[in-house]
Formats: sequence, C-alpha cells, structure tokens
Amino acid sequence: MTNIVCIGAGYVGGPTMAVMAQNCPHHRIVVVDINEARIAAWQSDHLPIYEPGLDEIVRAVRGKNLVFSTEVDRHIAEADIIFVSVNTPTKMFGQGAGRAADLQYWEKTARQIVRNATTPKIVVEKSTLPVRTAEAMEHILNSNDKGLYFDVVSNPEFLAEGTAIRDMQAPDRVLVGAHTTPSGRKALEAVVEIYANWVPRERIITTNLWSSELSKLTANAFLAQRISSINAISALCEQTEADVTEVAHAIGMDSRIGPKFLRASVGFGGSCFQKDILNLVYLCEYYGLPEVAHYWEQVVRMNEYQEARFVSNMLSAMFNTVAGKRIALLGAAFKAHTSDTRESPALAVCRALLDERAAVVLSDPHALDNARADLGDQAAQVIFEPDPYAAADGAYAIAVLTEWPQFASLDYEAIFRSMVKPAFIFDGRDILDHQGLFDIGFNVYAIGKPSLVHFNSSTPRPS
Ligand code: UDX
Ligand code: UDX
Repeated sequence: MTNIVCIGAGYVGGPTMAVMAQNCPHHRIVVVDINEARIAAWQSDHLPIYEPGLDEIVRAVRGKNLVFSTEVDRHIAEADIIFVSVNTPTKMFGQGAGRAADLQYWEKTARQIVRNATTPKIVVEKSTLPVRTAEAMEHILNSNDKGLYFDVVSNPEFLAEGTAIRDMQAPDRVLVGAHTTPSGRKALEAVVEIYANWVPRERIITTNLWSSELSKLTANAFLAQRISSINAISALCEQTEADVTEVAHAIGMDSRIGPKFLRASVGFGGSCFQKDILNLVYLCEYYGLPEVAHYWEQVVRMNEYQEARFVSNMLSAMFNTVAGKRIALLGAAFKAHTSDTRESPALAVCRALLDERAAVVLSDPHALDNARADLGDQAAQVIFEPDPYAAADGAYAIAVLTEWPQFASLDYEAIFRSMVKPAFIFDGRDILDHQGLFDIGFNVYAIGKPSLVHFNSSTPRPS
C-alpha cells in the first residue's frame, strides 16, 4: 500500500483523486485542503463542484480508500507520494503582473512539506507551472537540515471540465516527467505504476522534467489557438455569407487538421487557457524571445476581440442602444456540463451589457451561484433566474452563451410570444436551429453565419 496525498481539493485535485482511488483500491488516498468549507462539502452529499459522474465515484470510494481532510500537516507526514494541485493564478502584482504565474501557494506548500516530513517523499507537480519550476522546488525541498531527499516529478493534468471523469478513466495519454538520474527514474516509475492500474502502458508517456512541464502549457496554447483561429474566420464569414460550421467541417475532414476544437464561439473561457498562454508569453519574454511571445499573445487578443465583437453585434442589431432593455443571457458557465464560471465569456458579455445599462437576466442550470460570486459588486444589477422561460419573458433579446444542450430544445414559439417585438436572438455557440427561429419570427444572429433578419438593416440579408 502506498500513502498518496493530494494537496488542493479543487476542480483538479478532487476528480483526479476520486478516479485514482476507484482504480487503486490497494492504495490509501487523502485529499487535503486549507479551505474548511470545501473539505466539508467534499465530505457531504453536496460536492463543491458539479462534474458528471463524480458523485457516484465519490460515494463509492469515500470512507474506504479516499478521505478528505483539513489536517494538512499530519497527512503530509504520513505520505509517500504527494500530488500538489494548489492553484497557480496569474500574478496580479509586481514583476510579470497580469502574465506570470503567481507561485506563492506553491512555494508555501513546498515549505509545508519540508516542515512536516520525517521520511523522504516523491512530490508530484499536478498544477500547471512555468517550465523549470521543479528546479526551484527541488532547491526548497532539498535545502532541509533533516537529511531528507525529495524527488520532484511532473505529471500535468489534461482533464477538461465537464468530461473530467471520462478524461481520467480513459486518457489520451498520461505524461510523467522526471530527472534521468537513478533516483529520478525510480520516482518516475512509482508514479507510472499508479496510473498503470487502469491506463494501458503505451498511453503513459515519460519525458524529462522540463519537457513535461512545457508540454502542459503547449497543449493548452495549441488548443486555444485552434479556437482563436476558427473565431477569426467566423468574423470573416459574417462579412462574406460563408458559414463557419461548413468551413470548420470542410477543413476538419483534412486528417492533418482534424475535426476537434473547431467550434466557433463567443470565446474560450475557463481557468486554464488564458492564464497558461499569458504565462507562456511571459516565459518567452523572460528568455529573450519577444517574437515568440507576441505570436502567442495574439491568441488571447483574438479571444478578447471575439467577446467584444459579439457585444458590438448585439448593440448594432438592436438599434445601437440596449439601455433599459431586458436581455436574457442563457448560460453563465464557461462551457456546458460544469458549474465553473472562471473567465467565462458569458460573464464578459454580461459585464459589457451592464456597462451599456441593459437589464440583464442570467440563466444557467448549474452555475448561477458561481456567477453571482464572480460578478462581485455588479451582481446587484443582475437578475439570476434558473428558468430560461422566465428569463426570456418580457425580454428584447436572448443571447445563448453556454452550449447547454437544453437551450437547443426550448419551446422557442412560446418564448417568442412572451418577448418584446422585434425579438432578437444571438447564438454565441451555434447550437440553435437558426432557420426555424427565423420562421418563428426572430431576428437571428449567429457566430460566423449570415444573419437572418425580418427588416432592412446594415447587415446583409439572406437571399
Ligand atoms: C488549479 C488551476 O486552475 C490549474 O491551472 C492548476 O493546474 C491546478 O490548480 P483547480 O483545481 O481548478 O486548478 O483550482 P482550485 O479549484 O482553485 O483548487 C485549488 C485548491 O487548492 C483550493 O481548494 C485551495 O483552497 C487549495 N489550496 C491553495 C491549498 O490547499 N493550500 C494552499 O496553500 C493554496
Ligand atoms: C482545458 C483543456 O482542454 C484541458 O486539457 C486542460 O487540462 C485544462 O484546460 P477546460 O478549460 O476544462 O480544459 O475545457 P475545454 O473543453 O478545453 O474548453 C475551454 C473553452 O474553450 C471553453 O470555454 C469552451 O467552450 C471553449 N471551446 C472549446 C470553444 O469555444 N470551441 C471549441 O471547439 C472547443
């Protein structure tokens, strides 16, 4: 039996360790966090995050070989392997503000490990970190006067929210990086052994430490780049009557390009993409590569442009004023099947409409509590309405901002009847039946598609 401890019971630590516990009944896994409310939620019937399939797994393994605890020090002392998945947000002060990763929680955690350890341990970087962070960690961990040696292993997570359980159960690959010294190899093998309990060996890739750290940032940068690329094309489609879904399909059939991550949208969100690209940009600048930094920065700028463009399109379609108009925003989560609203484009649109003094009603099946918290002071100006029909009642416009499948199958005839005319609908996720909505009477604007309007406007009419 190995004593595995995970520090950080968030979106990454919780689901990752639940699946690990399920697949490794012979290991004891403890997830610790300094946040008492969060741990209490993990111990209750109302888990702190919504993730399909998570409840069932936690119910099956909790109290057996999976434990949630706030006793960080004690469990560190007992651990053989420590996964660290504390948050690494964008630094908001001093050098690198707005770009670099804020590593204060990481360093604090490393020092906490040293303080409480009485035996050597393997420390696994699970959080996304700048390349070469492990070097600093090794210095902190191994500058102890207890004669203890700590191996640092990089094992970045690639799970996406909404499919985290599936991604962990059957990953495309597991990446483990370590030093090529005998001790590093032994530590790497110990981590590989854990995953080999349920992941085929050929899907477990091993690399040197720095490649593993950098691969995580690179994977997220490439994924985000595809979205910004198709979103850039969506702007051109709207000017030319090309249809971005058709273009994406046509290029995705090229096996060199592939069909995934080509859904044009109001923008990408989530806790990772923007943070990781900005971090990559900062690293490139730090290492004297301004051209490379500039290249990747454009991925984020294009995303900001796409969000701003969506709001501008709403404004110009609605006669250049939304002040005082009720607007129903369907979706607050940054993507479907999650309650997470971090960096959600829905909230960016919400804030921009509030600046225009619109009367915003926000509807989402799972993310309204997080949306309220994220909006801070501005939340007081927003109506939070879980029922999309009630949200649309009396509205001048609807904007679909999260691709929850239920938004595609609402009774839009009834919704149309309850709205102020002319009624507008803006599809920021391209999930609706646009022609059907137009036939009902809506003026329809969708990302990367010709607009369907019932009266003359500055935007082109369909033939
Ligand atoms: C986060 C980042 O978003 C991701 O990029 C990184 O790879 C891992 O950390 P996530 O699990 O989504 O992933 O973060 P979050 O939900 O904020 O969870 C982090 C947890 O760490 C929090 O519950 C926080 O209380 C805990 N924490 C933080 C500690 O237990 N100790 C600390 O010193 C700091
Ligand atoms: C991402 C990575 O996919 C994952 O591997 C990594 O570990 C963490 O970051 P996540 O942010 O949870 O995961 O979700 P993801 O599915 O990647 O979506 C990110 C954003 O891009 C969402 O806002 C989503 O709606 C948007 N998106 C995704 C698009 O706009 N179009 C697409 O085609 C795909």
